[in-house]
Amino acid sequence: MIDHKIADISLAEAGRHQIRLAEHEMPGLMALREEYAAAQPLAGARIAGSLHMTVQTAVLIETLVALGADVRWASCNIFSTQDEAAAAVVVGVGTVDAPAGVPVFAWKGETLAEYWWAADQIFRWDGHDGPNMILDDGGDATMLVHKGREFERAGAVPVGTETDPAEYRILLELLRKSLAEDPERFTRMSEGIQGVSEETTTGVNRLYQLASGNELLFPAINVNDSVTKSKFDNRYGIRHSLPDGLNRATDVLIGGKVAFIVGYGDVGKGAAEALRGQGARVIVSEIDPICALQAAMDGYQVARIEDVLDEADIFITTTGNTRVITVQHLLGMKHNAIVGNIGHFDDEIDLAGLAAVPGVEKIDIKPQVHEWRLPASAGDGARAAHSVIVLSEGRLLNLGNATGHPSFVMSNSFANQVIAQIELFAGHEQYERQVYRLSKKLDEKVARLHLDALGVKLTELTKEQADYIGVDVAGPYKSDHYRY
Ligand code: NAI
Repeated sequence: MIDHKIADISLAEAGRHQIRLAEHEMPGLMALREEYAAAQPLAGARIAGSLHMTVQTAVLIETLVALGADVRWASCNIFSTQDEAAAAVVVGVGTVDAPAGVPVFAWKGETLAEYWWAADQIFRWDGHDGPNMILDDGGDATMLVHKGREFERAGAVPVGTETDPAEYRILLELLRKSLAEDPERFTRMSEGIQGVSEETTTGVNRLYQLASGNELLFPAINVNDSVTKSKFDNRYGIRHSLPDGLNRATDVLIGGKVAFIVGYGDVGKGAAEALRGQGARVIVSEIDPICALQAAMDGYQVARIEDVLDEADIFITTTGNTRVITVQHLLGMKHNAIVGNIGHFDDEIDLAGLAAVPGVEKIDIKPQVHEWRLPASAGDGARAAHSVIVLSEGRLLNLGNATGHPSFVMSNSFANQVIAQIELFAGHEQYERQVYRLSKKLDEKVARLHLDALGVKLTELTKEQADYIGVDVAGPYKSDHYRY
């Protein structure tokens, strides 16, 4: 019996049907399976995966296995697992009574303690010190190893303070137990890890911070900044999955409403476009003059949140930053304003601060939808008692209230992940403990794998034209500084 902890293994058949349909929509991953079936480039790889356990991720996991890898998997968010997908991956080619798939530790609605327990499980490999590869989304798996090793070196785990986020205090507790059980566990493990491929903007930022402090323990590939990832998943994926989350959560008509988008990076651009497409009047805020100018040229009003609190009906945070919606903002919003986040972590909206306001009440409407009743306030910002509707407790609402991005766009992201895993596993001696990106040639390859399915007929350069613009007929077609 393979090791696992999921919600309900009897959902496997339902999950398998969805995976089958997703495979058809994931031509990039299926092409990689075919290309590498014989070579088995991941034979010997033990991959610890921490990424939303959705149907699309199931196709990624089974692609890694098809290329020879052994895999253990957890989700990188407490609400993002699709339980039927997790069940199907665990059952694999076996049966519900005798599963023979991949060990998965993920279910929708984990507590924070369960989240870190599951994250720890992907590092426990029978007969080995740990995995030799990490596939990460948001950097929690990578952080677990780095913090574990740091505290082992120090010989102690610090005591969390009241100001530390709850999840960090739980992580410290887990590492304290690990240190007591085996004081060199993460030290040995980190020596055997050949690399990490990281999925998202927030995780990539963490990797660059580690690398700049010379603290990165193994090479990393920044998958997010492949053009075929961030300019597609972050933008077109969000354009699809943000309205999906809003609709499933609230079923409020978006047309005619005023929507406020905090941040106009790749995710913010997709969010603004989606809500404008639904007929909302969209207002954007930015700290970066370039992105603010882009938003203005794209036809959006650009304003500060405090100036439009009594106008906006829907607030969406997309920054990867902390407390971009403060308690004061929340208290100043219209009655039943909808507030949600699609950035990676849950600290964009200060719900911890809101919970500490005297007289605030939180009411369960349904899973991942809460009405926060706010007391009347006196003074300058005087307001009558009113409510705000908060989605997914401030965690990524497109995965908490819906099922994340659709398969086709994730096929682009995950084709980059598979190629990054092959690169790092097969060629790790060539890499320093730095953060790398995949080559433009590979980026173009990922795009190419998705053209036929959409009926795209690519124009071919003549030799004369290629020479004229100074590229090879077979690509790459752009220089590294080109921005798309
Ligand atoms: P980005 O860096 O392209 O965009 C973030 C933008 O927010 C930047 O333009 C920045 O200037 C702006 N910003 C930062 N602080 C701000 C503030 N206080 N007020 C207004 N604007 C502010 O990053 P990207 O790729 O758009 O990702 C954003 C977040 O979304 C990250 O946490 C990323 O990991 C996450 N993400 C979530 C996905 C999902 O499915 N929910 C998919 C892809 C990324």
